[in-house]
Amino acid sequence: MLTESWLLSTVLVALLLLAAPIAFAAEAPKAEPFGETADGVAVSEYTLTNPNGMVAKLITRGATLRELHVPDAKGNLADVVLGFDDVAGYESEGNQYFGTTTGRVANRVAKGKFTLNGKEYSLATNNDPNHLHGGGPRSLDKVVWNAEPFGTDNGQGVTFTYTSPDGEEGYPGNLAMAVTYTLTNNNDLRIDYKATTDQATPVNLTHHSYFNLSGAGSSTVLDHELMLNADRYTPTDETLIPTGKLAPVSGTPLDFTKPTVVSERIDELVSTPALGYDHNYVLNKKGDELALAAKLRDPSSGRTMSVLTTEPGVQFYTGNFLMDQKGKGGKAYPKRSALCLETQHFPDSVNQPTFPSVILNPGQTYRQTCIYRFGSE
Ligand code: BGC
Repeated sequence: MLTESWLLSTVLVALLLLAAPIAFAAEAPKAEPFGETADGVAVSEYTLTNPNGMVAKLITRGATLRELHVPDAKGNLADVVLGFDDVAGYESEGNQYFGTTTGRVANRVAKGKFTLNGKEYSLATNNDPNHLHGGGPRSLDKVVWNAEPFGTDNGQGVTFTYTSPDGEEGYPGNLAMAVTYTLTNNNDLRIDYKATTDQATPVNLTHHSYFNLSGAGSSTVLDHELMLNADRYTPTDETLIPTGKLAPVSGTPLDFTKPTVVSERIDELVSTPALGYDHNYVLNKKGDELALAAKLRDPSSGRTMSVLTTEPGVQFYTGNFLMDQKGKGGKAYPKRSALCLETQHFPDSVNQPTFPSVILNPGQTYRQTCIYRFGSE
């Protein structure tokens, strides 16, 4: 009798242990309607949560992060990214790539031109005289992506997929992309990028959230402390196209190698074409290892955000062109009320032979990862 019940309980424990990973796997988030585009395409939203109270809302237009609620040390949540309440907001002039997946080639391409395998290509010059963030009406931030939600034992996520047809926005090749967002149980928002092509083509995808760790709609990020793991940056001409040189940050207002308050030296940059920080940093790292690029801290809430990436660069942009547009909950977003840390290959790489290449060839798979890791100190 004793042996039987012992056997039974052993079997039960073994079954429970086997079932544990399944029992603890998060559910896949459900799609909710989020209106439609002006052309009548339905947009869906997915809400990801984790056990620490974090919430991330993602929409299929532009594979965009629309809300990101992050706890401070006391557990108070704030939505730390800029965004809009509806699709019309995202389609408005006020949308400066808020939270979007950006490409096919993020950042600038000089005069919207490049030559690949002997052929010249022309792209939209939507940031006169240059091409910016993939161009016109069919850039990746504007198209509606397919979505596949999932749950794992380490969090919830959504994989967005989109195949950009050959010639779309002037780029060669059918480019099949997958962008996977995962909100993990340890407060990482992880983004994994994958792409393949049937013709050689430039690819440089990034994520364009505007962060304010006090909460979106707070008046400034000038009080945030920033560390950038970069001894060098790519100096530019007056249209923000790199000269091709890599220059030391040491002795300039661009030096964030030690945690530094954003306001400390920004005044030295206001009369430059960038109007503040809008610079690509060359990260201190080898090859495509996943490494720390930046750490941001908001002294008022104590919230921190570390940025890790497989990319060679990060664009640090202090929202110098924000224009008081009204975002979520009718809150205005004035100049410098948020900042971007866009992990990427260097701007204009397609025209700069000494920069790491952005060319993807048939048979190769483009893979990059960016992690925004939240905490409090
Ligand atoms: C660029 C800025 C630009 C902003 C919004 C950033 O990635 O570096 O110059 O104004 O995106 O388009």
